[in-house]
Amino acid sequence: MLTSCTSEMTPAGVSASHGNAHVADELHASLGAVEAWISPKFLYDSLGSKLFEAICELPEYYPTRTEAAIFERHGAEIARVAGKGATLIDLGAGNCAKAASLFPLLQPAQYVAIDISSEFLHDALGRLRQRFPQIAMEALGMDFSQQFALPQQVRAARRLFFYPGSSIGNFTPDEAEAFLRRLRAQCGNDGGILIGIDLAKDKAVLDAAYDDALGVTAAFNLNILRHVNTLLGADFDIRAWRHHGFYNAARSRVEMHLEAVRDQEVRWPGGARRFEAGDCIHTENSYKYQQADAVKLLERSGFEATRIWTDPQCPFAVIHAQAIAQ
Ligand code: AVI
Repeated sequence: MLTSCTSEMTPAGVSASHGNAHVADELHASLGAVEAWISPKFLYDSLGSKLFEAICELPEYYPTRTEAAIFERHGAEIARVAGKGATLIDLGAGNCAKAASLFPLLQPAQYVAIDISSEFLHDALGRLRQRFPQIAMEALGMDFSQQFALPQQVRAARRLFFYPGSSIGNFTPDEAEAFLRRLRAQCGNDGGILIGIDLAKDKAVLDAAYDDALGVTAAFNLNILRHVNTLLGADFDIRAWRHHGFYNAARSRVEMHLEAVRDQEVRWPGGARRFEAGDCIHTENSYKYQQADAVKLLERSGFEATRIWTDPQCPFAVIHAQAIAQ
């Protein structure tokens, strides 16, 4: 483990707004922090979203195929438990493929795809509309990681939030609870959530999943600097940084960092920072839960787990949880 690269990201790590005037201030502050960090939401520009798609194809990156196998094996039962005809709200929809694989079973009355990478999302939804013309669809390009309000065109009836891929792991546990509470506040007593949560497992498996042999995850992580150059007008030299991704068992999380490979100064309008070789920028945490803790997290947030599906080979849980009546 890189001991110089294990700083605590600020609790606001994934919570500030994106795509507005505050972005430059936010980046200026996080790059200027004693231990520099960049919010993981900035991993997802158009190229970052494509690189993440490629990660999902990697043999080392088990979450996508493990979750897909659970959906494949238990889809009919998932649909029975979650119920057909819901308003399916896909958080971090990306290419919308996961939700689309469940359409024939879930038969949503409306599909609402939300993603911070707006252009990528609109392209994906355009293709999906042609495949499923009978389903009403909405694309919302927005950052849902902080306060967000669903617009009027989203049906209020039977809202089923769909949050696959263990994206919940990219929040700290406290942030995850606050986020889930916000979802609970936006679904009535008839609503629920279908969520994929990655569970703690062997360190070697986790290290490989976040530092793959082909270097796709490295490109995904380094691309954040390209994105910051665009957003902030910074002059990061991508070749002067190296990717690290590893499991920090003491904190039950995988961490991603970028390490400076030489001394350098990075400048942007209104700011600059000197990095010595070996200095790190913390870019992402990916928390891995014990199943019982995942259930407790949902409960604290106002959802009661009704059914859990897991993979016997590779610990990962798909959980349906019903809103606890208020
Ligand atoms: C999106 N999120 C759940 C991924 C994860 O596994 O934490 C992002 C990722 N980072 C590196 N590889 C994948």
